Amino acid sequence: MDTVTMDVSYLIDATSMLLRWLHLIVGIAWIGSSFYFVWLDNSIRPPKDQALKDAGVGGELWAMHGGGFYNPQKYAVAPKQLPEDLHFFFWPSYTTWLTGFLLISTLYYFQAATYMVDPSIAAITPAQSVGIGIATLVVGWIVYDQLARLLIERSQLLFAVIYSAFVTAVAFGLTHVLSGRAAYIHVGAMIATTMTANVFFWIIPAQRKQVAAMKRGEEVNPLLGKRAKQRSYHNNYLTMPVLFAMISNHYAATYNHPHAWLVLILIMLGSVLVRHFFNLRHKGVNRWEFPIVGMAIILGVLVWIAPKPVATNSASNAPTLAEITAITQARCTGCHADKPTILPVAQAGVKLDTPERVKQYAQRIYERSAQLKNMPLANMTKMTDEERAKVAAWYQAGAK
Ligand code: HEC
Repeated sequence: MDTVTMDVSYLIDATSMLLRWLHLIVGIAWIGSSFYFVWLDNSIRPPKDQALKDAGVGGELWAMHGGGFYNPQKYAVAPKQLPEDLHFFFWPSYTTWLTGFLLISTLYYFQAATYMVDPSIAAITPAQSVGIGIATLVVGWIVYDQLARLLIERSQLLFAVIYSAFVTAVAFGLTHVLSGRAAYIHVGAMIATTMTANVFFWIIPAQRKQVAAMKRGEEVNPLLGKRAKQRSYHNNYLTMPVLFAMISNHYAATYNHPHAWLVLILIMLGSVLVRHFFNLRHKGVNRWEFPIVGMAIILGVLVWIAPKPVATNSASNAPTLAEITAITQARCTGCHADKPTILPVAQAGVKLDTPERVKQYAQRIYERSAQLKNMPLANMTKMTDEERAKVAAWYQAGAK
């Protein structure tokens, strides 16, 4: 392994660390304020004070936070006069998207052969995989936006059903062309792009029009605020599915499942039902069937996808640690050793080059190579079924 490649790998590591950190910080700032405002909208109640009613306040509430009393008020349409100092909230959303796009580029697009392509799923080139990934983000927004324009006023439920069907189709398609982890992250990134596009193309422009109308001394069209709010509500529901997709890469049993698309969609659906409960609850309506069904779906999926014990021929002699180490040295150390030969650093910090280390990681070797079969990565080192069966037999005999 030459030192140049080592440096590139470290550069990717360091870049992705900084980007992921920043992505989390700005993402929390965005979603935190977005959740707060949706909660506020659901929790405010019409004011009793006549002066507030006369001023055009449609709802208010009292809250305490950090030792202070707060009394936010929402105007039914707009205040009579434009306040001097008016805060907009858009940088957190834009920077979340930007850092997310840089992160997906660093981890996936620059390493497409490793992370985007899985030859056992589809024989595509790394360039094609990147094209598919980026196209998904754009097409996802166009379809969402057209559906929303068409249906948002008619029926939110109909919109939700059709958009869910579209996301399901995308999940199905992507899990049949990209590697499982890349497919999951792209479904998430597609929805997340739509959320930021909602802010960029609808919510902020509507606010600018509202402010411009007030500056001209005209009446503010209530439709502007209403439309922006609908999109903002969609973002609120879409947050749960996106966040699951973003953490899914840690859970190989999900994205590696033979029906990975269905696993993803069901978990996303469950999370949206739980969110719906909270949105209703903040309005004072308790509909416990939503979180119960939502959690039942998620837990049901987790039970369904639990890796099964691999059937082994127990009559034959269990392989020895030496035999298994020979297998990992042939199939795994390319990416899991002090100085691996395929990828430049020990992946996930796991090293499988000595008998001691093989013993230490017995359970995870069994899980990844015999149960889930998603190691070696994209089976780059061509591990055979016979070798996987040996790992299973060795593990089940006590990994001795
Ligand atoms: C071509 C490179 C490559 C090869 C070969 C490879 N791996 Fe991996 N492995 C990775 C990468 C990349 C990750 C990190 C991503 C992930 O967890 O899926 C990883 C992660 C793992 C993990 C997860 C560690 C954790 O955090 O839970 C285990 C276990 C593992 N590999 C076992 C194996 C075994 C066993 C073999 C050989 C049979 C093997 N790998 C061969 C690339 C490889």
